[in-house]
Amino acid sequence: MSTEYIIVEKSKKLNGKINLSGSKNATLPIMAALILTSGKSELYNVPESADILQTISLLKDLGAQVDFDPEKKILIADTSTINNFEVKPEVMNKMRASILVMGPLLSRFKKAKVALPGGCLIGKRPIDLHLNNFKKMGVNIEENSDYLYAQVNNLDKNLQNKKQQKIILEYPSVGATENIAMLAASLPKDTFIINAALEPEVLDFLDVLKKMGVKIEILPPATIKISGVKEFKTIKHKIIPDRLEAGSLLSAVAFSGGQIELPDARADHMDIFLEKLSEMGHEVIINPDNSIKFKACKKPKAVSFKTGPYPCFPTDLQAPMMVLQTLADGESIIEETVFENRLLHVQELKKMGADITHINNSKVLVKGVKKMHAKEVLAGDIRACTALVIAGLACDQNTIIKGISHWRRGHDKLEEKFEKLGAKIKISL
Ligand code: UD1
Repeated sequence: MSTEYIIVEKSKKLNGKINLSGSKNATLPIMAALILTSGKSELYNVPESADILQTISLLKDLGAQVDFDPEKKILIADTSTINNFEVKPEVMNKMRASILVMGPLLSRFKKAKVALPGGCLIGKRPIDLHLNNFKKMGVNIEENSDYLYAQVNNLDKNLQNKKQQKIILEYPSVGATENIAMLAASLPKDTFIINAALEPEVLDFLDVLKKMGVKIEILPPATIKISGVKEFKTIKHKIIPDRLEAGSLLSAVAFSGGQIELPDARADHMDIFLEKLSEMGHEVIINPDNSIKFKACKKPKAVSFKTGPYPCFPTDLQAPMMVLQTLADGESIIEETVFENRLLHVQELKKMGADITHINNSKVLVKGVKKMHAKEVLAGDIRACTALVIAGLACDQNTIIKGISHWRRGHDKLEEKFEKLGAKIKISL
């Protein structure tokens, strides 16, 4: 493991105005979708996180020419030179979201060779919804211990002749929805993805497919109808602001006290999260343009919540919101329903003095305490890392957080934004 760590000092009230970065989770599938095109596309408001840099390497590996200006946040990709349909294990192991290139590679080359994501497919974070539905769409998939070999099966005349197909997702997986959409985009028929994920990031990605010339309709309650095309236009697109970064900054201010303005936030992407902050007693002002002004209250009340697919409470903000409950007045029940194993921060928060009891594997009871204490803690994923940094802001001495590759993977220099608000955070090499 890397020897890098983050040191967080006890913070005074935070205060300031922050411009948000573009959403990483919208940028990743949009970059994958560029594989459908042949030519030069431009993306604006692209965040500079390790996952994005990794996806740039992946596109280059496939043969694309990519220029990224992190200062201007502009990414220009020329995809006319893409000539490779293989994703190697070293790429897949670094970033599981690399699986998202499978759909567009199948559209472009009618085949793809993709290393298996680390771990067992039917274990944690499986990709069965991607693969089983590709198979239903006429893709042959063979698997050995390292690779998936996928090929669009042209011999299946029945399937090719059907004018429409229904793909029914057992669970509205974000990645599976995006991957299936990128294959459907090239098929000469209408594909209905039933029980699709409709997260704001998915909608931003669908906007990009529309700009490429794909006809897309969203039908109630959660169906995406995609009419495939033969040719894809190159695009220019500005990525939506990162609602998870907005949520992290709001959580930090709610925990330390103070005020924040987020002029480019999309409050309409964060309804339940903002509602919960208001329920705690904080002042949330939503302007007509969806920008947010926030003022922390002195004595926040504990609130309960349960994560779920959008528009439910986002799993990615579960850990930061849990931190807010540790010092709140009263008790909170928190249930994680999206991921099996996303309560790893609980044991670290307990080390810092939080009173948290497991009700079962996915549900905890948090009782508000008076104080948290600085400790050395370990972050298990991106959002847990954010949560521990926020927790550190209220501890009397310096909190040390290890496992910070996650911080770099998920955030575009979020530490600088925290510092701009008055927090003291250092990344130590
Ligand atoms: C995306 C986000 C991640 C967010 C998650 C849920 C990106 C890059 N990441 O991840 O930040 O936390 O959505 O909002 O956009 N599942 C299966 N089989 C599959 C696929 C998923 O069982 O084939 C399960 C997963 O194990 C998980 C749940 O479905 O329990 C949700 O996963 P999914 O929506 O696919 O998340 P990601 O796209 O991986």
